[in-house]
Amino acid sequence: MAIQAIKGVKDILPEDIPAWRHLEATARTIFENYGFSEIRVPVFEYTELFARSIGATTDIVEKEMYTFEDRDGRKITLRPEGTAGVVRSFIEHKMYADAQLTRLYYLGPMFRHERPQKGRYRQFHQIGVETLGIDHPHVDIEVLAMLHRLYEALGIKGLTLQVNSLGDSACRGAYRDKLKEYLRDKLPTLCGDCQRRYETNPLRVLDCKVDAEKFGDSPVMLDHLCEPCKAHFETVEAGLNKLCIPFEINPRLVRGLDYYTRTTFELVMGHMGAQNTVAAGGRYDGLVHEIGGPATAGIGFALGVERTISLMDTAGLKLPQPTLYLAALGKEAVAQALPVVHALKSQGIRVETDYQGASLKSQMKKADKCGAAYTLILGEQEIAAGTAVLRNMQTKEQTTLTFSNIVEELRAKMI
Ligand code: HAM
Repeated sequence: MAIQAIKGVKDILPEDIPAWRHLEATARTIFENYGFSEIRVPVFEYTELFARSIGATTDIVEKEMYTFEDRDGRKITLRPEGTAGVVRSFIEHKMYADAQLTRLYYLGPMFRHERPQKGRYRQFHQIGVETLGIDHPHVDIEVLAMLHRLYEALGIKGLTLQVNSLGDSACRGAYRDKLKEYLRDKLPTLCGDCQRRYETNPLRVLDCKVDAEKFGDSPVMLDHLCEPCKAHFETVEAGLNKLCIPFEINPRLVRGLDYYTRTTFELVMGHMGAQNTVAAGGRYDGLVHEIGGPATAGIGFALGVERTISLMDTAGLKLPQPTLYLAALGKEAVAQALPVVHALKSQGIRVETDYQGASLKSQMKKADKCGAAYTLILGEQEIAAGTAVLRNMQTKEQTTLTFSNIVEELRAKMI
């Protein structure tokens, strides 16, 4: 039996590429306008990096990572997300020494061993940004404004930006105690994961896929923020309003990664079912320090490329089409066409040809199908006369060119 791709892993076929390129190009342009520079970090890192940053008791680290031992006996993991690697690189290259605020963006594949379904894959792609260095709420607003701008530029409507604050180390402890108190009585009725998380990571209990509905009246972090976190959140709220960026406060938004502090957010689409989060992120002011760097604030987001593309109108997006189809009719014409095709290609002109010298009728069909703007016809008659016929495929106008000077004549006619 033929070998197939791994479950949950998709080929991105040539017909998919125009949409991918459009999304990537739009993101690059917008991010670079906002002062972000691209970074490319490895797709695998030491497992420890992800365990320490994402959190040892998160679903990602507990259940979803592709981890293996390499030949040196070190534990290696295929990156399940981009933030940890970017922050590792930020520390390793001492980027904090160069600038007060470092703005980075990245794109590439991520790997999670989740149950595959529509919009959820085991190899998927993210486009993400990270800003490192300043904890001012205006940085949060800038990042959210840029996310909003990107989806506006892509023409995707119907998304809701949900925002919350998860507090910081000063206020989260007291909230965690309150939450545990609230959950204590319910504990015997909760699933095994919730019972375990009650001890290790009680905030994650609120996000349980089985039991979440039981927690409608739970205490929420927003009501328990310390003064600085509260002031930070209010400034973010006011700034978003000022910039007319629509958002909802969702006090029950808890993220699946442990590094978040203060502002957290998700961009969700109503009709996408369970996989309705298109992009997500937040502030992580403790992360750089946690993985060995100097105390440095950070905030960023990542969008799911596959989910975003599924919402884009991709009808008008096409790959570049050939400029010229060279219809060489018969063996001799095919031989004469070879250097012409080569010369045109080396000059950057997209040329298509069939190397088989088929009939005029069949080659004109191929010329039409590939979308060439012009066809150059080289048949026995033309060879005898030292000419070739150039046909404009749109106007149907035909011009006779001199074959000995064909490359120059074509260049002049086709611009
Ligand atoms: P995340 O919420 O785990 O955050 O993932 C961000 C986005 O990646 C999701 O909203 C979704 O669109 C996409 N995604 C995640 N898992 C899958 C999957 N299995 N299949 C398809 N798409 C998926 C992060 O990864 C954080 N690093 C975001 C961040 C950056 N926070 C701060 N900076």
